[in-house]
Amino acid sequence: MSYFTNKTVWITGASSGIGEALTYELAKQGAKIIISARREAELKRVQQQACPNGSSGQAGGSNIVILPLDLEAAATFPSKVQEAVSAFGQIDIMIHNGGISQRGTVIDTLPAVQRKVMEVDYFSYIELTRLLLPHMQQRKTGHIVAISSVMGKIGTPMRSAYAAAKHALHGFFDCLRAEVWNDKIKVTLIMPGYIRTQVSLNAVTASGEKLNELGKNIGHGYEAGKTAQQILHAIQKGKFEKYVGRPFSQEWMAIHLMRLFPSMAIRVFKNAVPQ
Ligand SMILES: NC(=O)c1ccc[n+]([C@@H]2O[C@H](COP(=O)([O-])OP(=O)(O)OC[C@H]3O[C@@H](n4cnc5c(N)ncnc54)[C@H](OP(=O)(O)O)[C@@H]3O)[C@@H](O)[C@H]2O)c1
Repeated sequence: MSYFTNKTVWITGASSGIGEALTYELAKQGAKIIISARREAELKRVQQQACPNGSSGQAGGSNIVILPLDLEAAATFPSKVQEAVSAFGQIDIMIHNGGISQRGTVIDTLPAVQRKVMEVDYFSYIELTRLLLPHMQQRKTGHIVAISSVMGKIGTPMRSAYAAAKHALHGFFDCLRAEVWNDKIKVTLIMPGYIRTQVSLNAVTASGEKLNELGKNIGHGYEAGKTAQQILHAIQKGKFEKYVGRPFSQEWMAIHLMRLFPSMAIRVFKNAVPQ
């Protein structure tokens, strides 16, 4: 028995990268999982890989349910939340993980791109949370997890939209934690460093195209599987905020430099080359 056995977890962005790795780890630990993203075929692949012995599916007795969801389609969120809750009758842990990164200077990045990144990486998280809260408040239990980033704590060139969305998550979820404390609802913010996923390939450029480049730092990033284990450990411990990724890495140092010596950090970050 693990902490997650028989808990119901809804993960967005489960068709790839960190969300996919979280699905495998949670399946191993006997959780009931609802997996969401836009690409249904990829979700099916993840479902099958997570439960090769056939304990997955949509019917009764299944452990992994697919719930396709576009984080830019806010009008669908009320029915998606209802579907997610009724899949297993409850949601114990919501992991907001789906997201896109961005590469572009402030001057070049079109307003539509700034808005798209905010929509996916920030507004979808807060609206899905708002819709799910009554369910958790009624049960007087629940855990909301938001996958932020080291970029939720620092600022470097070429990432204005992404850093803005991730910083916004900290403000919002810190306020939420204070509001729902007495309802016994926990809130955890996760700050991954460089993790080897599709994130840079899927990043948007200044004009909104797909970047389609595997950045050097992401290519040499920490393993998604180990990252998922670190995330689950932070959830189990009820952490308010947690860095995950390679221990004592440059990203880990960046967070601490910013916290302890912000003037020095800002001078260092101006030379950061996005890779
Ligand atoms: N990898 C890193 O180094 C790193 C570092 C810090 C933070 N993070 C954060 O970690 C989270 C997961 O990213 P990842 O690294 O695993 O990247 P990834 O491999 O590109 O996965 C991103 C996931 O988000 C989903 N997604 C993107 N746009 C969506 C939309 N409009 N609607 C629904 N789902 C959408 C994708 O699914 P579909 O395309 O199927 O919709 C995919 O499942 C993100 O929030 C990211 O900002 C990653």
